[in-house]
Amino acid sequence: MKIYRANIIHTPTPGKLEIIPHGYVVVQSNGLVEGVYADLPEDMDWRRQVMDFGDKLLIPAFNDLHVHAPQYRNMGLALDLELLPWLNTYTFPEETKYADPEYARRLYRRFVHELWMQGTMRSAVFGTIHPESTRILADLFIQAGMGAYVGLVGMNRNCPDTLHNTTEEVMAGMRMLKAHLDEHSADGMVRPIITPRFVPSCSDEMLCAMGAYAAETGLPVQSHLSENRSEIDWVKELEPDSTCYGDAYNRYGLFGQTPTLMAHCCYTDGEEMELMRKNGVYVVHCPMSNSNLSSGMAPIRKFLGEGIHVALGTDVSAGHHMSMLRVMQYAIQVSKLNYAQTKGEMSFLSLSEVFYLATKGGGSFFGKVGSFEPGYEFDALLVDDSYLNYDNYTLPQRLERYIYLGDDRDIKRRFCRGVELNEPVF
Ligand code: GUN
Ligand code: FE
Repeated sequence: MKIYRANIIHTPTPGKLEIIPHGYVVVQSNGLVEGVYADLPEDMDWRRQVMDFGDKLLIPAFNDLHVHAPQYRNMGLALDLELLPWLNTYTFPEETKYADPEYARRLYRRFVHELWMQGTMRSAVFGTIHPESTRILADLFIQAGMGAYVGLVGMNRNCPDTLHNTTEEVMAGMRMLKAHLDEHSADGMVRPIITPRFVPSCSDEMLCAMGAYAAETGLPVQSHLSENRSEIDWVKELEPDSTCYGDAYNRYGLFGQTPTLMAHCCYTDGEEMELMRKNGVYVVHCPMSNSNLSSGMAPIRKFLGEGIHVALGTDVSAGHHMSMLRVMQYAIQVSKLNYAQTKGEMSFLSLSEVFYLATKGGGSFFGKVGSFEPGYEFDALLVDDSYLNYDNYTLPQRLERYIYLGDDRDIKRRFCRGVELNEPVF
């Protein structure tokens, strides 16, 4: 058992920060939270075990539910096109390089290291079509001790000759990755995720095989949905029988039949929104990416009102930064533009709501993750905001200023499933 003392802030519910000034979190040896206390019971022999972190903040670690590891080198570059030309001009050529496992190892090391740096302890990650490089990525997560869903990408139509696989190849690759992770990540921290790139990249045959594999294994699914207007028009041409973009996944069992993440959903409404609600599909909101690629503004307030699960993602490299702090800032700002655009019909997101989405909202995809409630896996960040706290700010103000003004240098310790994770050395 471990006991940490600090200013504890988390969000069991989206609407309100729960704050325990100089409180205690008791973590069992299995890595699960036993409880959070304002004071420790006198009659227990616990007090001498306390690790006191003084006036620092202790918050749940961040969860990035949509990020492309092989786009890491392009981060902060090449944001002058909309989605479809952006993919062809910048993204596919970079991903092609991951045919070389040594290139993959060199860049993936940096990618996983930066997730650690930014305090993102769990992520849902796209690899490429290359099984060997994707396995290397998964192994780096295992070495770092971080949680991840790692996806071997399927793409067999409308792709460059240098970057496509066949249904047989992606199926064989997924089976290899699953067998590898069953053996090497026995604690289940790193798992495979079925990853059709998006409908325009995947033939019906490939989607059908991936859906069958989801049904066979129960593995989760991740993809892109209704990100950009040209993309949506194209899907209508490619899949004339589908009643909406989401239906093109749903008809193959890739839309909530197993746990499913759909990034973007900028234009999701009506039937598609209802299907997501009914099937429990997660929206992964990537406001940094949606701004950079001029994609649109996802109606997050509506999704939340419908009771649809919402998580946040950086979507690097369409998103230009690995920090979930930035994503939270963008989520609030984009929601305010949406508020203005809808003449106040869609109220904007509060700080506690986006903090919830970055922690417990996304964390729920991994199980009991993202909160300090009893039974939750202890994923936490210890934050030293003393340089921002020069004039007796309140704790809610300190969290707000950390989210808007802080960065990775403020994170002093990182915990994942109860284990403190030191800087990975690969
Ligand atoms: N849709 C299909 N592939 C991608 C990608 O790599 N990034 C984004 N943002 N959207 C996509
Ligand atoms: Fe993406």
